[in-house]
This record gives sequence, structure tokens and C-alpha cells, in this order.
Amino acid sequence: MDDKISVFDVYSESRLQLERLTVADAQPGAGTDVVRGLHAQPKVLPARYFYDDRGSQLFEQICDLPEYYLTRTETAILKQCARAIAELTGPCEIVELGSGSSIKTRILLDAYSALDYPLRYLPIDVSAGILESSASDLLVAYPKLQVHGLVGTYELALRRLRSTGLPTRMVCFLGSTLGNLSPQECEVFFAQVAATLEPGEYFLLGVDLHKDEKQLEAAYNDNRGVTAEFNLNMLWHLNRCFDGDFEPSRFAHWAFYNEPLRRIEMHLRSLDSQTVRLRSLDLTVALQTDETIRTEISRKFELDAIGQDLRGRGLMPVEVWSDPNQWFGLLLCRLDHLR
Ligand code: AVJ
Repeated sequence: MDDKISVFDVYSESRLQLERLTVADAQPGAGTDVVRGLHAQPKVLPARYFYDDRGSQLFEQICDLPEYYLTRTETAILKQCARAIAELTGPCEIVELGSGSSIKTRILLDAYSALDYPLRYLPIDVSAGILESSASDLLVAYPKLQVHGLVGTYELALRRLRSTGLPTRMVCFLGSTLGNLSPQECEVFFAQVAATLEPGEYFLLGVDLHKDEKQLEAAYNDNRGVTAEFNLNMLWHLNRCFDGDFEPSRFAHWAFYNEPLRRIEMHLRSLDSQTVRLRSLDLTVALQTDETIRTEISRKFELDAIGQDLRGRGLMPVEVWSDPNQWFGLLLCRLDHLR
């Protein structure tokens, strides 16, 4: 399968290498997922279309919101346990899926560098802009760091990962991005991670935990409306990708906790009855007043259950950390030898 992946953009300086990944017949921007989602009933759009450069910036703003406890809590946990992680793994290449601004990565890099371990970082993100700027910032902050960034989807990137000179690797998936995946997609994803790792290598997973509905809903309905703007920004992004004519002012942000399914759902609600075209996909979509398009699920987990799922894939939890309120969890797993 690997031969279908072409690297059409590679540039490297001595400590920085960036590659753009694409698959010959199914580029991430090809839009088959958009067509399928807008034909579905109810309508859905893939959450990764949030993240053009503007969307990545808005997400950074969300992380600083008082209501959005996730980033703050995970960062606090990481600060507590980064040294333990570094001691458990030993010298290690750090791979990060959905690296974004790489702010939390610094906590890990600090811990490895305090132990005088070599620093190799492999960030993976769909947004080239944020990958490039955060990689350059890191190179300045860590003079011995080597960065090899991959622009592309997790799936493509996982297939391209190769062992390096360092004794082991740790694939990090932080920020509860796992929550965007359905239980079925989650299983596939764990299998992909397990297939990528060598036995004995590590997987570091950050997950948001089930909690009070009011607190959850506030985190996705902030007072300043940043989350609403983030949600609506997807429509601008789609317009640009597919020559579309979405009018974001004719949609409203809607987010709520679906308690039985233990997930936040974000939707865009059509304010009137309207027709939207995405010309390059040859797609016309009719929306009724109050009809919604679901743009994201953000699942909330239980530590025991997620540990079980990981174990089922050979990803054995070595250590699990949480905050005093048990709002967020961090699991360090090691791929089993007996497989
Ligand atoms: C980056 C997927 C973890 O689900 O909380 C933030 C994205 N959506 N506010 C999340 C998001 C609305 C975020 N993840």
C-alpha cells in the first residue's frame, strides 16, 4: 500500500525536515467524505475540516478559554508526570499525532532534555502553516532538537513511520482528539497504532473523562463565542476547498452533551430553508429551517473502559495519570511483546 503514497513536497534544513503526504487517488482534500456526509441523513461533516490555518488559530484560542478545562488540565497532568514518562521510556523519538501548536510537547521535551536524552520530534498535522511555525519555534527553543514534520492525515502518516536511530519511540495522541472518533473508528485507529509500533514501543494517550453535563456543555458554549466561530469557520474552509457558497451567517452554532452516548455533539443549524452548492464536487445540498449538520463528536471516556480497549489491541497501559478532580486522563501504554 505504501507505494501509493507520494511525497510531493520535501524540504529540509539540517535540523528541520518537512514532508507533505498525499495518496495518488484519494487526497485528503478530495472531498469524497464531504459528499458522503452531506448526502447522509442526518447530515455530517468530518471534524478535520475545522483545521485550516484560521481554524487552528481559533482552536488555540479555545484552549485558553476559562470554560475549556481540557487543555489546562492535561497540561497540569503532563507537568506532574513528564519526568516519570521520560524515565519509563528512556531515550526515545517523540511522534505526535495532531501536534498543532506543540505547546504541551515542550513539557515532554524539557523532561527528556533534563535527563540529557537526545531530542527527536516527529509532529504530524493536517495544517501545514501551524506545523511549520511551531517547528521553527521549537528549533529555536531547543538547540539540539531535530524535527521531522509530516503534513497529512494520521492514517497516511502512521503508514509512513519508520524506526529511527533511537532505541524506542512514543506515539503521542493528546488533547482527547481520540474523542472525535466513533467507537468503531477508535478500534481501527488503535489497530493502526499497534501495527505501526514495534513491540516494546510506547503510545501516550490523553482523554477527556465523563463528568457533569453542565461543565461539559459550558466548555463547548463559551461566553465569548470562540467555539461558535470555530464551528462556523468550517464553512469558509469548505467554500475555499470546493468552490462553495455556504453563507456562514445563515447558520448557528449548537453544542450539547448527548448523555446516553457520552459525547458532546457540535452541529451547525440552518437558520432558514436554503440550498448550498459545492461546485468542484458537483454537489447541491438542500437544508430545511432548523436542520443541522453535525460537525463533531467529542466523546468522554472512562479510564477503566479505555484501558480495556487498549489492552485488547496489545497496547498495555503501563501507567495512568489523572488530576485530583478526575477530569482528564493520561495513559502510557507499551505494545505487548507476545503478539
Ligand atoms: C481537539 C477534538 C479535542 O473535542 O474538545 C474544541 C475540539 N471542539 N471545542 C474537543 C473542539 C470544540 C477538541 N478536540
